[in-house]
Amino acid sequence: MKLGVIGVGHLAGAVLKGLLNGGVAAGDVCLSPRGRGPEMAERFGFGLAEDNAALVEACDVVLLAVRPGDAAEVVRGLPWREGQVLMSACAGVRIERLAEASAPAEVVRVMPITASELGASPTIVYPMRPEVAPYLEAIGTPIPLESEEQFETATVSAAVYGWAQAMIRTGTEWGIANGLDPAAARQLMARTFVASGRIQGEQDAPMDDILASLCTPGGITEAGLRHIEAEGVPEAWAGACDLVLRKLRGQA
Ligand SMILES: NC(=O)c1ccc[n+]([C@@H]2O[C@H](COP(=O)([O-])OP(=O)(O)OC[C@H]3O[C@@H](n4cnc5c(N)ncnc54)[C@H](OP(=O)(O)O)[C@@H]3O)[C@@H](O)[C@H]2O)c1
Repeated sequence: MKLGVIGVGHLAGAVLKGLLNGGVAAGDVCLSPRGRGPEMAERFGFGLAEDNAALVEACDVVLLAVRPGDAAEVVRGLPWREGQVLMSACAGVRIERLAEASAPAEVVRVMPITASELGASPTIVYPMRPEVAPYLEAIGTPIPLESEEQFETATVSAAVYGWAQAMIRTGTEWGIANGLDPAAARQLMARTFVASGRIQGEQDAPMDDILASLCTPGGITEAGLRHIEAEGVPEAWAGACDLVLRKLRGQA
């Protein structure tokens, strides 16, 4: 199985490093010659296609990671064939727009995040196809969805990934302002968020029960949580998710 990548920019750079770390052989991956393609081929030993048409001819699965506004035009007119899979990471670009431009290839939508580089991307995928599974497993955990509407809703999590990092930064800055060593403050806050995610992701107990077990009546967690709720943070968070979803649907 050969993977091609059209759009070797910021996201694809992280995905490519994750694929290598996850055991995909550099010789089984072919890059388009634009963007970081030549540099990454030289540095890691990936193949470098002469142009996008040669890449499509040589590959079974093609990851598309160009800017959303360019997506349909970039794939149009390339020599797609029956049995190929076009795996698009382009946010907000509907399957029908790409399918029309890349027939007869099958279009699959994915939304990896830059933690792909660490093998830690929870990657949503619709529709799941066996050809893409090994790549998504190499960069993290595939999360198959049942419809394109669900995929659009779940894409909001790609923005949440950034917001969580802003929260980590706020906590780190607060720790430094209150006397912590900067490196220790950063590690502590980042790893506390990782720990929170792992407990909620890896335990079966209801989410409310896990949280309630931390909120000793009259204790520090409960006191702070009440303050956060009184300040309207949960509503602001849900509002930000609504805003992103409207944007993804082209309504904002
Ligand atoms: N950034 C993220 O964390 C992230 C996460 C999930 C999904 N995405 C999605 O991934 C896509 C790319 O985002 P990005 O942040 O990686 O953007 P980016 O850094 O701008 O990368 C886009 C790349 O596409 C290349 N390109 C443009 N036209 C091309 C063509 N005709 N043939 C071959 N390559 C072409 C550009 O090369 P030139 O420099 O030569 O123009 C550039 O290297 C977007 O659709 C975005 O929605 C991004």
